[in-house]
Amino acid sequence: MYPNQYEASLKLVEAAREQNIAYTPNRMTAEEKETLLATYHPDYRKEEFSTLAFGPNQGEQVPHELCEMLQAHSRIKAEDVDLTNPAYDVDVLIIGGGGAGSSAAIEAHEAGANVMIVTKLRIGDANTMMAEGGIQAADKPNDSPAIHYLDAFGGGHFAAKPELLSKLVTEAPEAIQWLDALGVEFDKSPDGTMITTHGGGTSRKRMHAAKDYSGAEIMRTLRDEVLNRGIPVIDFTAALELILDENGHAAGAVLKNMETGELYVAKAKTVILATGGAGRMHYQGFPTSNHYGATADGLVLGYRAGAKLLYADTLQYHPTGAAFPEQIFGALVTEKVRSLGAKLIGADGTVFMHPLETRDVAAASIIRECSDRHNGVATPSGFGVWLDTPMIEKIGGEGTIEARIPAMMRMFGKYGIDIRREPILVYPTLHYQNGGLDITDDCMTTNVENLFAAGEVVGGIHGRNRLMGNSLLDIIVFGRSAGKNAAARAKETKVGTLTLEHIAKFDAARKAAGIETDAVSPKLLPSYTGQKSGI
Ligand code: FUM
Repeated sequence: MYPNQYEASLKLVEAAREQNIAYTPNRMTAEEKETLLATYHPDYRKEEFSTLAFGPNQGEQVPHELCEMLQAHSRIKAEDVDLTNPAYDVDVLIIGGGGAGSSAAIEAHEAGANVMIVTKLRIGDANTMMAEGGIQAADKPNDSPAIHYLDAFGGGHFAAKPELLSKLVTEAPEAIQWLDALGVEFDKSPDGTMITTHGGGTSRKRMHAAKDYSGAEIMRTLRDEVLNRGIPVIDFTAALELILDENGHAAGAVLKNMETGELYVAKAKTVILATGGAGRMHYQGFPTSNHYGATADGLVLGYRAGAKLLYADTLQYHPTGAAFPEQIFGALVTEKVRSLGAKLIGADGTVFMHPLETRDVAAASIIRECSDRHNGVATPSGFGVWLDTPMIEKIGGEGTIEARIPAMMRMFGKYGIDIRREPILVYPTLHYQNGGLDITDDCMTTNVENLFAAGEVVGGIHGRNRLMGNSLLDIIVFGRSAGKNAAARAKETKVGTLTLEHIAKFDAARKAAGIETDAVSPKLLPSYTGQKSGI
């Protein structure tokens, strides 16, 4: 049910529907894309970035909000923490209870390690749970990891670390089999073959899905496996600081019980950061599709301990966040809606772009439509363009929406919008951090030994833009790999004396750089009250 002011534009969309189904614009040329991105993509707004004044990435640009957190003070004073009597002593400490952390825990446990997960919310409260559209893997006869590599390398502007992307695509088919065997209920044809679709920038149909709640289904399965194995999970417990040993190797973390405020020391032979993304930093004031806990904590913990970041200046704005109604502003409208045939339409009822351009290009194109081209529809928070969902039923037949994207139908249905009959309004939403901790292909960070990372906290797997479905894939491939490698490394590791000296060194570097700030980090939780979070 839309307000009256949308009526005129809705009529134009409806009148042009048949014609728009028949018309698909060409994809843009490389030159057109470059110009579009430089003019309209938020990553190119120079005034939204600051230069890091010290630390491993000194001299590099990152969003203002991230710069503040990376250069902030620790939440603890080293002298207040007794490192001599740890509450926990494990082989592998995993910080983060999403898909990457859980996959890592399962494999580390399988390898015989004494492994523990700590998570500031509950296991499964993570971006994995929010993922909708699917997971890529080249496992059909007309496809190959090499073709998958080319799609992702081009889509990421040729910036991915080749060895990481190569690992991602080569281990993808096995990742699907692993999940299938664990019990993920993938969409299958009656003969048991996996149903696959296209995503933006894919040249083959390789998106495996569980309807439009693929992430929730994968997370459900991983969480069950972690709990069934009896792996300890310490909920509502945040990592405030990494602990190093006298050799500068990662050796644990200072933890805080989020309910009681108590501090604990966890000692570990190896540590895996699997803290996820940063949408709740709301860079440039964008809304987000991300989970409540996505506040860039892993970048902060790693950076302060000396780990380098890669491409921390590049974020993914998912082209289709909900722009109306206000209650779901910024929520993810899966790309699968476009895979199934819906096209993006301006206020004047015309198709203005190919529906499956890569995400950065699609987002920039929508922003252009709503700004310089004045072809957006005004919403309570700004503007949106139409995503003509009724096209799906016309192309795929009645019942396609309920069968393939029931969560979308339900999300809009709650507000009286029947997406089988009415289009929806969308605008880019902050969705993914393309950059993160720099790792080698064994998942260890490049310059802090025994510190591993997996999932969205990692940078360089996808380059400067990620294709749909390669994130659910990377949490599995790199999560599993981090778990196996951290467990193997733990076997040959003897931890030296624990220290928090890196905090003082970081403070000295801040002072030497002339930076004055009251900010403390990691952020842990977003604040929506206009006041600093009291946590
Ligand atoms: O559009 C989506 O369903 C999102 C998928 C992804 O980020 O991989």
